[in-house]
Amino acid sequence: MTHLLNAGLPVASSCRGDGVCAKCRLHVLPLEENATSPIEALEKRLLAKTKAEADERISCQTKVLGLIEVDADYW
Ligand code: FES
Repeated sequence: MTHLLNAGLPVASSCRGDGVCAKCRLHVLPLEENATSPIEALEKRLLAKTKAEADERISCQTKVLGLIEVDADYW
């Protein structure tokens, strides 16, 4: 989420990255192995609660560790 905001891309949020709203959900395509941090318990709960698609991550809870592509339904 921080990388995208710093790049000038809009990321939906009403909790400002506190891991509450799940509005920052984005489609993430890793382009290399271990390109993102593992899904932790909080993110897992948010993904389940919002019935997220298999390729979606909660961007404020995801660390970028390698090359990825991201997309949002609202971009
Ligand atoms: S910004 Fe609210 S959960 Fe990510």
